[in-house]
Amino acid sequence: MNRGHVIITGGSSGIGLAIARHYVKAGWNLSIIARNKDRLAGAKQYLLKQSTDPSQRIETFTADVSSRFQIENAIEQSVNLLDIPQILVTSAGTVIPGYFHSLPVEMFEKMIAVNYLGTVYAVKAIEPMMRSKGNGHIVMISSGAGLIGIYGYSGYSPSKFAVRGFAEVLQAESEPYGIRISVVFPPDTETPQLVEERRLKPHETTLITKSGGVMSADDVAKIIIMGISRNKFIITPGYSMTVLGWLHSLIRPLLNSWFKFQIKRSAKTVK
Ligand SMILES: NC(=O)c1ccc[n+]([C@@H]2O[C@H](COP(=O)([O-])OP(=O)(O)OC[C@H]3O[C@@H](n4cnc5c(N)ncnc54)[C@H](OP(=O)(O)O)[C@@H]3O)[C@@H](O)[C@H]2O)c1
Repeated sequence: MNRGHVIITGGSSGIGLAIARHYVKAGWNLSIIARNKDRLAGAKQYLLKQSTDPSQRIETFTADVSSRFQIENAIEQSVNLLDIPQILVTSAGTVIPGYFHSLPVEMFEKMIAVNYLGTVYAVKAIEPMMRSKGNGHIVMISSGAGLIGIYGYSGYSPSKFAVRGFAEVLQAESEPYGIRISVVFPPDTETPQLVEERRLKPHETTLITKSGGVMSADDVAKIIIMGISRNKFIITPGYSMTVLGWLHSLIRPLLNSWFKFQIKRSAKTVK
């Protein structure tokens, strides 16, 4: 069987794990990269149960994507074991919501390091290999907060805007080499990250993001996989993200009024 290989950073949980499950069910070999060894081992056990062929390979690698050395090392090991991947998905990410005045500067540094530089390091390690093959697909997970700046996300939104800017430039530069790029803007998605986020979100942010709805990780993953197979550059799971993806600059003044209304409402309810 001539199966492909997909590498997923952040593949041990949430959206990354849901994408991994779909590829494993379709018979692909898989590499997942994350920090926590136990969670990686648990994800591997779970994914092995989904595999369709006993010879299918699922490998795990421990790395912090914000360490260039660690991610380069993990990708090198993965390629040595399972060959150059057809697809790289960068899903590893972190969110620390909070009022600007209460977020320590280290949290801004952390979100840029994991969400943006973690994406760049992984892509930098894989892109030369895909270019030499003249084939490959790189999928970066941004966020709805990477389309518009949202109250309470002064650290997170810019890190996801940066991913979007990076994807736009790379799309233009990679096309002649046969490398396709996709950038994904998920809405709130039911994952361990969202559970943690809910604890920290300012009340205003909760009111604003509630209007975008919540999707399951599996539904988001299905839309991402369909987008990949159709070579879509922009992938927007759900209705609200699709509207935002098309119209975010045009409807920005309207959205601002809506945000201001929610912020006033929050001031009235939290007293
Ligand atoms: N859930 C949402 O509502 C939502 C909405 C929009 C966008 N997103 C984006 O979607 C992506 C996936 O989020 P999720 O909700 O699926 O989160 P999740 O369930 O918390 O999973 C995050 C994954 O990333 C890994 N990870 C986190 N920091 C890492 C680091 N420094 N180095 C290596 N791996 C790291 C985690 O494993 P370890 O902790 O073991 O490293 C885990 O495998 C993120 O980029 C997130 O910003 C999520």
